[in-house]
Amino acid sequence: MVPKITVIGSLNMDLTATSAKRPAAGETILGERFETFPGGKGANQAVAAARLGADVAMIGMVGRDPFGDELTQVLRREGIRTEHIGRAGTSSGVAVIQVVDGDNSITVIPGANFQLTPDYIGTKRSVIAESDMVLIQLEIPLETVAAAAKCCQEADVPYILNPAPAQPLSREVIDQAAYITPNESEAAILFDDIQKALKEYADKLVITKGEEGIVYSGGRVPAFSVEPVDTTGAGDTFNAALALKLASGSPLDEACRYANAAAALQIGFPGAQAGMPTNDEVISFMRQNGQNPL
Ligand code: RIB
Repeated sequence: MVPKITVIGSLNMDLTATSAKRPAAGETILGERFETFPGGKGANQAVAAARLGADVAMIGMVGRDPFGDELTQVLRREGIRTEHIGRAGTSSGVAVIQVVDGDNSITVIPGANFQLTPDYIGTKRSVIAESDMVLIQLEIPLETVAAAAKCCQEADVPYILNPAPAQPLSREVIDQAAYITPNESEAAILFDDIQKALKEYADKLVITKGEEGIVYSGGRVPAFSVEPVDTTGAGDTFNAALALKLASGSPLDEACRYANAAAALQIGFPGAQAGMPTNDEVISFMRQNGQNPL
């Protein structure tokens, strides 16, 4: 059965500069490359889930501008249902990204993403109710996140909360999530004591730690040793792959190992979406590395 995944989140055009170092305050440096890539944590998670084989719907907001057209078309070409992406009278979201040695720093200008309102989510109840799993991140207004969480709760649909970028969240939104997937720095903002949080949210809190792999209450999954070209979108790939496996009924440890492999494959390419793998690619990568994909 193909799992139905609905992503509620952002779409951004990524404006990416690659350079040998990061400029200090007041400094001008010469970079190596400038590229534009489709991105946004929501759109990235939608593309990753679709490539892995899920039936994906995207709920989001773009501007009535060329970036909005392109961001929507990119998703449509991936087979994602885009009819729930609205158009706002402001510019589409953009992310200004600096890549140095494969690692990124990102400034997001939310634009139309911040016009995704609780009322708009209210008009999408039936899409949410038909989903096996919903993915939510924090590049949209927090009241919209709360409305999305409430819709999921009312429809009895599990949601994965990817609290990125980190912001203080209501206890309700955290507690109602089926899974919470911060990276290390996001976890430090959300929880005073991470070891305590791992116990309190056993089988629910999954922390991605980059080169140190993944930590959850059941243990640790080590990272693959891969030379990164660009880590932008690795977390999004992880979340999408996790959603696909959990929605298909896999246990958490299996889903973590699969998602870890998907994210390792993704970082070998520039931009967030180009390196997102198919299910076959993840499975053969796991086998090549001596892992049983199950
Ligand atoms: O997670 C990576 C994404 O974060 C980028 O594509 C960028 O748009 C920012 O939203």
